[in-house]
Amino acid sequence: ELASRAHIRFSVPVIQQALAEAEIKTEQLDGIAVTYGPGLIGSLLTGLCVAKGLSLSLEIPFIGINHLEGHVFSNVLEEPAVLPPFVVLIVSGGHTQLVLVEEWGNYRILGKTRDDAAGEAFDKVAKMLDLGYPGGPVIEKAAKKGNAEYIRFPRAFLKNGSFDFSFSGLKTAVMNHVYNIGEDAVKNRINDIAVCFQEAVVEVLVEKTIQAAREYKVKKICLAGGVAVNSRLRIKFQQKTESTPLKVLFPSPRLCTDNGAMIAAAGEFYLKQGSQSPHS
Ligand code: KG4
Ligand code: ZN
Repeated sequence: ELASRAHIRFSVPVIQQALAEAEIKTEQLDGIAVTYGPGLIGSLLTGLCVAKGLSLSLEIPFIGINHLEGHVFSNVLEEPAVLPPFVVLIVSGGHTQLVLVEEWGNYRILGKTRDDAAGEAFDKVAKMLDLGYPGGPVIEKAAKKGNAEYIRFPRAFLKNGSFDFSFSGLKTAVMNHVYNIGEDAVKNRINDIAVCFQEAVVEVLVEKTIQAAREYKVKKICLAGGVAVNSRLRIKFQQKTESTPLKVLFPSPRLCTDNGAMIAAAGEFYLKQGSQSPHS
């Protein structure tokens, strides 16, 4: 409810600011792209109403975009020449998926989380450690000062060859550890717990993604979603691929977290193909 109301308040000012910064008039727009899902239904409906209203009044096409497909297109904004096939790791607060992009618009989900998303695990562990929200950036900052040898938290690789993920066991392991050592000890160990948790998440994400790229014989890996901002994840990908034929594309941090530009990039692709969405 709060998110929907915030969308009502901010949609028009944000659009106005974007147009002003881009020095573009509404008459110059070729189409309106908008996220139709997945997400919070109230916020999605608000966005859809604004987009359809603009499309009708400006008499330009309206294109509904899947939020996750939008994340994948952040790679096009970073590197316009990026061409499928590639494997993309989408790691956000709501989703963790490994997807084979055979061509634009043609996606094969190789694996996804069976419980918590990677970002959700960062957020929940940050809450346990009283670090605030969103958890990713604060855990990353604390981890830089921590001792990675302090404790080894479990890594869930699941059965051989599976590209699914699971982070709930790791989350429970952190929770049990926090409970076992007690509040006072936790205060002195925040950085150590943060780095050991981060290592466990990063190791599984990197290993499975590289394994998927090898199995499906692609040379490119793309990253997307808020967790892709994580510098330890980026370093580990670089280390693990530097002496291999694999290339990893990292979109800039501001393109990884939720943004309108990635939705526009996906919209541009569909518009150029001549597709548009119905108003009703
Ligand atoms: O893609 P995003 O902006 O929104 C969703 O679609 O969910 O991702 C938000 C998630 C949050 O869970 C946040 O904690 C995580 O991305 N995140 C990070 C970092 N920055 C944001 N996780 C790890 N390290 C970061 N530096
Ligand atoms: Zn997102």
